[in-house]
Amino acid sequence: MRICRQGPSLVVHTPAKLNLFLEVLGRRPDGYHELETVMVSVGLYDTLLLSEDESQQTRLRCHWTARNSQLQRSSQGEHQLLHGSADGGAGGASDFEQNNLILRAADLLREQTGCRRGVTVNLYKRIPLQAGLGGGSSDAAATLVGLNHLWQLGLTAADLHRLAAQLGSDVNFFLDSSLAAVCTGRGEQIHPVVVGSRLHFVVVTPPTGLSTAEVFRQWQPGAGATRSLADVTAVLASGRMASVPGVLHNGLESPAQELNPDVAATLEALRAAGATTAMMSGSGSSCFAICRSAAHARRIAGRMTHLELGQTFAVTLQA
Ligand code: C5P
Repeated sequence: MRICRQGPSLVVHTPAKLNLFLEVLGRRPDGYHELETVMVSVGLYDTLLLSEDESQQTRLRCHWTARNSQLQRSSQGEHQLLHGSADGGAGGASDFEQNNLILRAADLLREQTGCRRGVTVNLYKRIPLQAGLGGGSSDAAATLVGLNHLWQLGLTAADLHRLAAQLGSDVNFFLDSSLAAVCTGRGEQIHPVVVGSRLHFVVVTPPTGLSTAEVFRQWQPGAGATRSLADVTAVLASGRMASVPGVLHNGLESPAQELNPDVAATLEALRAAGATTAMMSGSGSSCFAICRSAAHARRIAGRMTHLELGQTFAVTLQA
């Protein structure tokens, strides 16, 4: 996450994540699932412009910067949502905006601190929705960190982590700007790990998304990973991630494939395009390949773009 001042406003660039390893250990009594996952943050960013709002309301204006997904097309162009107003903002606000974690994060901060200041958040949205890339969680983390500065709340890192866990299981990962971390519990317990070399990825997001809750509901206990979490973190630290086959694992891939045939088609296309390791990220529907070099990533991204299977990104993890 990168934060800079722009006059009286704050600009926050906040990244997407990929899951290199995800094992579901079992269902918990609270309805969540116990996880072991390795997340890395990659160079695909949403940008939030946070400006003090004199009317003391919390407002969100979303500007879509990528338009080739059905989900985003259904929320065309620019929308504004106003919290605390009777009409809920601009007509036809989408589910995306109705349930937006940015406004929930701002409202949670006000509720917990008694702060009555307002904010207008202009969100420049590049990370696809319902894609397993953590875009909503990343935006929520950026809001917590950004408003802590803008409203001068003086909250500690521990305070922000407590609030992050209330907003969603992936929000904590983005708070600390870790490059890579093992995440346990329901995903909210973060243990940073070492990345030994720069990694190059091609990410493909199919036009159809997946609901995290539905994918977890579809999950059944099964054979599990052939590699352990320790194997993955050792390979990540050694810098040989791109050359060790079979190290990636995602226990949610099968249930996601049952719900959305685009996942299997995208993985197959990535392998046919020359990827030696391809995997779904999080609860999908995005899939990614780890590439040997930037040139290898560009080649595969070019082939995938040509196939028009979804939005294609060539991104790096800067070690
Ligand atoms: O935590 P978050 O709000 O992102 O999770 C969305 C949904 O995904 C949860 O309501 C739950 O159904 C499911 N989930 C789960 N186990 C997790 C994380 C999420 O069952 N560890």
